[in-house]
Amino acid sequence: MLQSQSRRLEALRSRLIEAHQGHLLAYWDDLDDRQRELLLEDIGQVNFAGLPGLLRSHVLDEQPFSLPRDIQPAVCYPARPGLDQVGFYADAVKQGVSLIHHNKVAALTVAGGQGTRLGFDGPKGAFRISPVKNKPLFQLFAEFILGTNRRYGADLRWYIMTSPHNHADTTAFFEAHRFFGLKPERVRFFQQGVMPAFSKDGKILLDQKHRLAFSPDGHGGCLLALRRSGVLAEMAEAGIEHLSYFQVDNPLVKPIDPLFIGLHDMTGSEMSSKTIPKADDLERVGNFAVGDGKTMVIEYSDLPDELAHARDAQGNRLFDAGSIAIHLLSRRFVEQLTADEVHFGLPWHRAVKKVPHVNEAGRRIEPDKPNAVKLESFIFDAIPLARNPLILQTIREEEFSPVKNATGVDSAETSRRDLNRRAARWLESAGFAVPWREAEPDGLFEISPVLALDADHLREQMAMPPQIRPGNAHYWE
Ligand code: UD1
Repeated sequence: MLQSQSRRLEALRSRLIEAHQGHLLAYWDDLDDRQRELLLEDIGQVNFAGLPGLLRSHVLDEQPFSLPRDIQPAVCYPARPGLDQVGFYADAVKQGVSLIHHNKVAALTVAGGQGTRLGFDGPKGAFRISPVKNKPLFQLFAEFILGTNRRYGADLRWYIMTSPHNHADTTAFFEAHRFFGLKPERVRFFQQGVMPAFSKDGKILLDQKHRLAFSPDGHGGCLLALRRSGVLAEMAEAGIEHLSYFQVDNPLVKPIDPLFIGLHDMTGSEMSSKTIPKADDLERVGNFAVGDGKTMVIEYSDLPDELAHARDAQGNRLFDAGSIAIHLLSRRFVEQLTADEVHFGLPWHRAVKKVPHVNEAGRRIEPDKPNAVKLESFIFDAIPLARNPLILQTIREEEFSPVKNATGVDSAETSRRDLNRRAARWLESAGFAVPWREAEPDGLFEISPVLALDADHLREQMAMPPQIRPGNAHYWE
């Protein structure tokens, strides 16, 4: 028995040495049985067959992003229909509502990121953001789904992607808050995959002597994770046709939008996206473009400056369609993409980051400058693979103000401010006199999504004029 164990260990050692990863067993003799087990589990997660190719193509050298030869701005459906599109948009809303009513759509949130920029200790969805009640991001999404169920007579499912580092905390958070009023059986968590971090010379880093330095494999990892977790099969069984995808960081998102769903469905799009006009040429959002005939997103960091600043004949920004990371994916498209797991793969994106690790002397190092290569795949790289990809323009003030940074642009402060402004605008459009001071609503305003999903909905719901006193906090549910 012992002999066969040691033979297996030697076989593994030679395989690792062949793959130039022999150092992963360097501390084997220092480990206890449990630690050895964990180390073997971690090693078992690495695809050694694909490693040499991956190292050559992505780790050892920086591959410059290759811009398509022919690159044009993408064509988008406008936020408000032109005269000739009014009927089509109205039909799309009807179709969207019908799909929602029949539970043919599910919400999908990617919440596996590490949220390092925000510096919040916990799953980002637990971050408190609403202006009056200080509700966490997850609660706002949960209440939007509750409000949608109530408005359209639905009982929607919500799928939340976590990663190994935040899965337990995320599920515990939902349990502690009783799923914010949703039925627990309608909320399903699934974990994304991980990728090892590499030193710049291609060695997998050890986080501890018995653990590899893994990190989440990017939001593009949700496609394979949906299949591997069995969620995709469950969705097929439940008759879900479309997945409404959004990131955990944007409290203004409409997790379920009848117009968007209807347009996506009626045009036979396999993957649709929402866009907003960019705030400035260099805004840090992805750019929708058509490259060599394919619709795609080019990250701000990959868009050459001359294209970012380019203007059309009327002087308008040429590449103005910013990505707000809101998509619809048809379930069949995800099934087709992931049918052959071995050959499926969105491209890897390389980033050099600070990754703590155990060094050759066996000491754990917290690096003070970027030392390691991390690889992630991005969901928007599926767009060029989709049939009829559709892009719908929307309004920034209504749908986008993410919480990404601790301070400044896209911070809790700007996002909370934008939630407050939006509630004040909705109240005004419902006919109430909202006091303003120096272009900001005078007071705090919050409307639970359970009560109203948008301004029109609020108008229908609010028969009685509320008492608004300048400077006070006001909440409606
Ligand atoms: C992202 C988009 C950018 C878009 C912007 C809009 C990328 C590379 N860029 O930028 O095009 O304009 O949002 O706000 O995505 N996540 C996971 N698992 C992971 C990594 C991330 O679930 O392994 C989730 C995060 O929890 C978060 C979302 O993906 O919800 C976004 O990730 P992040 O890396 O913060 O993207 P950004 O660089 O902000």
